[in-house]
Amino acid sequence: MPKTLIKTFAATLIAWHGVSGRSRLPWQGKRDPYAVWVSEIMLQQTQVTTVLERYPRFMKRFPTVKKLASADIDEVLAEWAGLGYYTRARNLHACAKQVMTELGGNFPKDPVLLEQLKGIGRSTAGAIAAFAFLERAPILDTNVKRILARLFAIEGTIQEQEVNERLWSLATDLLPTQSIDMPVYTQALMDFGATWCTARKPVCLTSEKKCPFAKDCQANLSDQVLLLPQKKIKTKSPEFDCNMLLMRSGNSILLQKRPSKAIWGGLWSLPESAWIPRVPGAEKIDLNSQNLFAATLPKEDIGALTKLCKSVTRSDEIKHIFTHRRLWMQIWRTSSSKELEFLNPDLKWVSFSHLGRYGLPQPIKAWLQALSLVRGVDLKS
Ligand code: ADE
Repeated sequence: MPKTLIKTFAATLIAWHGVSGRSRLPWQGKRDPYAVWVSEIMLQQTQVTTVLERYPRFMKRFPTVKKLASADIDEVLAEWAGLGYYTRARNLHACAKQVMTELGGNFPKDPVLLEQLKGIGRSTAGAIAAFAFLERAPILDTNVKRILARLFAIEGTIQEQEVNERLWSLATDLLPTQSIDMPVYTQALMDFGATWCTARKPVCLTSEKKCPFAKDCQANLSDQVLLLPQKKIKTKSPEFDCNMLLMRSGNSILLQKRPSKAIWGGLWSLPESAWIPRVPGAEKIDLNSQNLFAATLPKEDIGALTKLCKSVTRSDEIKHIFTHRRLWMQIWRTSSSKELEFLNPDLKWVSFSHLGRYGLPQPIKAWLQALSLVRGVDLKS
């Protein structure tokens, strides 16, 4: 193990940040744990360019943990719409409530306590503790794992527990000795992974820039940079089919609130059937209103709707790719002669002009927009 690298790493990285790191991002330099926490959650699975636009808007709408905790979950989901991974928004809301009711409105500074809050993992807890409280807490997201696996030529995939333990221990050993340096060091580590020690085009393999760790990096010295960290062998993600119902009545469409534990949990969407594994090359089935309604609508409202909607027609098929699966959504169109009152509380008629107030799954929103059903309406894309 290169002992000198462990001693010099933090100072070298901080010096690198002064010249080549990212600065003036709206969430940088903040010590308010609420502001730091929101930015870290938003940045987890969303591009910096998107967060640049959405973070200030979110903070304006929910400027304090108290405001967020007292908001309705539907308002939070609508504000989050388009950012994806909606569990983050539900956890954000639940965590704000936890902070208000259990912690008197104050985030703890100890990363071990932060990690006990809803939606905060070990690395995010480290980032919040470092940025907001100057705690000497390590972070270890995918980018940092890659940096360390290369610097120390660590074999094995980052999914392995043993490899992870080794990486956490290294991340701790590399921390700067002075807590005052923690925010800039943590930001530098994130920036270095996102812009220089990247997965596919690290600067050490290009001629324009000189990596400050080139002489110490074990992967670079042994020509293994693109081979580390080792990749898990990928299996093809499974594909599913489902049917969806676009039911119109005058200037409204029928929306259904999705169960909170499902994909797009808590968002409002078109009524949808169960997902079934896709059979490649299978012939398209024709559905009539009876079997389509039976597959997509709550039992208690089917009878009345069947009387009001005479026929269904096949519309577009939308493909959506998630991280671990692909979904083909076959949309069926129908119309109801009146806006029936529903027995099921998760069904609702929503007028086109009010669609923007609802958090809709991104592909459904995009499709409705393309259809011009929501023309002239700001859907907060
Ligand atoms: N990703 C996660 N946290 C980040 C931050 N603070 N700055 C840039 N990218 C990040």
